[in-house]
Amino acid sequence: MEQSMNELMNHTADMGQAQMFSKDWYNEYFRRAAESATHSRFCEAVYGRDLCQHGMMDVDEMEFLTSLLKPGAKVLEIGCSNGHISEHLHEHSGCDILGLDYADAAVAQAKARTQGKAGLDFQVADLIHDPLPGNGYDTILSIDSIYFMGDYNKTLIKLNGKLKPGGRMIIAAFQAREDDEPENLLQAGYTRMDQALQSLGFNYVQHDFTANVRKHWLKNYEYSRTLQDDFAAEGNAFLCEARMAENGWFKDHAERGSLVRFLYVIENNPGLY
Ligand SMILES: C[S@@+](CC[C@H](N)C(=O)[O-])C[C@H]1O[C@@H](n2cnc3c(N)ncnc32)[C@H](O)[C@@H]1O
Repeated sequence: MEQSMNELMNHTADMGQAQMFSKDWYNEYFRRAAESATHSRFCEAVYGRDLCQHGMMDVDEMEFLTSLLKPGAKVLEIGCSNGHISEHLHEHSGCDILGLDYADAAVAQAKARTQGKAGLDFQVADLIHDPLPGNGYDTILSIDSIYFMGDYNKTLIKLNGKLKPGGRMIIAAFQAREDDEPENLLQAGYTRMDQALQSLGFNYVQHDFTANVRKHWLKNYEYSRTLQDDFAAEGNAFLCEARMAENGWFKDHAERGSLVRFLYVIENNPGLY
């Protein structure tokens, strides 16, 4: 797991629940979130639209991402959760999406909700242990899921191998910096993702969504507290605690200016097959 996520998990190690970000934990999260009116209000307030999100992509970033996806393009989305984002992207760009996630409860929700919709499909897959289905994708999309796949270099090679020639990966990812880490880690061209992409010889561009992600975490922090009683009244304190467990850490980084975010658009590298 990416180093910043490890630091976050150490921070949340004693929550008394299934380990944060495990399959069981995500299943519980999405089982509850899909039924929770308060979670919908939280997402609407924090992201600007309720798509049952658990990442950091706000409506501006989502709109920009949509503009990159072409009608009829064959897209593989990794870490799609219960598919609301996939469905939104499909409806607004016309691309076809196969979404993968290891949270089988979330995938079941996505499949049930979108049954009969051509151009949308979902499968359970563990991104670390299972082979990726299919090949010849125009685009492989990862919204705040790349951290969970282990080593960035290995992951990029695995994803690159599933692209068609001329295809691309689109990866949305944050980078945080601790005091003992290099000063330039937060600069475009120097994040851990940049380092992995450059070491593998990828051509790519990166779009800066740092201002968005910093605002996101301030709102995430604020609304988890504003809505805490409403979550509890629904019997969904779990959802609120889940948000609070991470948003203190991220808000601190946002306020210290030690958090950045980029959308990396990466050309297929045929030299890596
Ligand atoms: C931070 S959430 C992001 C969800 C969604 N993309 C969004 O932006 O709201 C990470 C997602 O990755 C999934 N995930 C984490 N580890 C995984 C793994 N090893 N295999 C498959 N999915 C995984 C989780 O179940 C979760 O849905």
